[in-house]
Amino acid sequence: MKKFKNIAVLTSGGDAPGMNAAVRAVVRTAISHNVRVMGIFRGYSGLIDGDIRPLGLRDVSNVINKGGTVLYSDRCPEFQTAEGMAKAVDTCKRLGIDGIIALGGDGTFRGATELTANGVPCIGVPCTIDNDIASTDNTIGFDTAMNTVIELVDNLRDTCESHARCNVVEVMGRGCGEIALSTGIASGATATLIPEFSYDVNDICARIKKARELGKRNFIVIVSEGVGNQVGPDLAKTIETETGVETKFARFAHIVRGGSPTLKDRVLASTMGAIAVEELLKGNSNLVICEKKGKIVAVDINYALILDRMYKNKLKDGDLDRFSEKEIEKMKKEIREKQQTMARLYGISKTINL
Ligand code: F6P
Repeated sequence: MKKFKNIAVLTSGGDAPGMNAAVRAVVRTAISHNVRVMGIFRGYSGLIDGDIRPLGLRDVSNVINKGGTVLYSDRCPEFQTAEGMAKAVDTCKRLGIDGIIALGGDGTFRGATELTANGVPCIGVPCTIDNDIASTDNTIGFDTAMNTVIELVDNLRDTCESHARCNVVEVMGRGCGEIALSTGIASGATATLIPEFSYDVNDICARIKKARELGKRNFIVIVSEGVGNQVGPDLAKTIETETGVETKFARFAHIVRGGSPTLKDRVLASTMGAIAVEELLKGNSNLVICEKKGKIVAVDINYALILDRMYKNKLKDGDLDRFSEKEIEKMKKEIREKQQTMARLYGISKTINL
């Protein structure tokens, strides 16, 4: 079995609360196994440029409670080129990096598989507020972002009640309505618009009009970024014109991507970070650490990436070639279960939030 002397950790793509807790867990777990850890700054850009420093136990003190990423992050197009990959592999050889824990989303995992194929074993840890990685029930940062959303929406509701207004709120989620769906339920939104399901603007207006006639003063409508940039502002105008209820629009955007991680995210990040290191040191790689039905499990990264493409209807020719019938059936089953869970939540939100 390969003897690991040095491993490295990086954060890449959109930052997520809890990334620091995961970095801390990686550093301290590795050191407990007498393995040195290096921090790669600015994601794959830092790997290409050699922006790398050793991390000791005390370097990750007081970060478990911090949002953002102390290692900084980047989206790095150069890493997708052959030259970029060659430079990254060269950095690893030069500094004696035996393996990497890569924290991020699907783009980060694609980079990790490429690196593994080029001789640097990698393991991915899912960090994104969007919760848009099909292989895991929860990503690090999702819980915190949702809690921030409901705190802000609760504030809006106060002022909507005082002034008898409606507020349309757009929340993040690139092509994915998970944040909107749960926060819509939790904040009692009259309607929730997400890319996974169709919606009817006339019906939303009719429901608001009727509820106003029956005496309801405040209305909240949650719109996922994934339904389109102009949907939220346009909907606010339509609601005002069609119902006579004064309607404001708010785009939360990056404001919910920062902030101190919740307990749930800190525990998830600490557990996933520790397990990622244990797997790497056992000689395993090309894995992504996932939460499935309450258990933390290691999933083959190629399986995870293709499952994700299947879920997002983005499969390319040949994507399924390397998988057995049994594995493809398993993917389909996982997707059906995920869709059923979302449909159930969507149905409940429509029934109870009038
Ligand atoms: O992937 C997380 C995410 O926050 C998406 O919800 C959003 O569309 C995107 O990142 C924004 O990216 P950037 O920080 O590059 O503007």
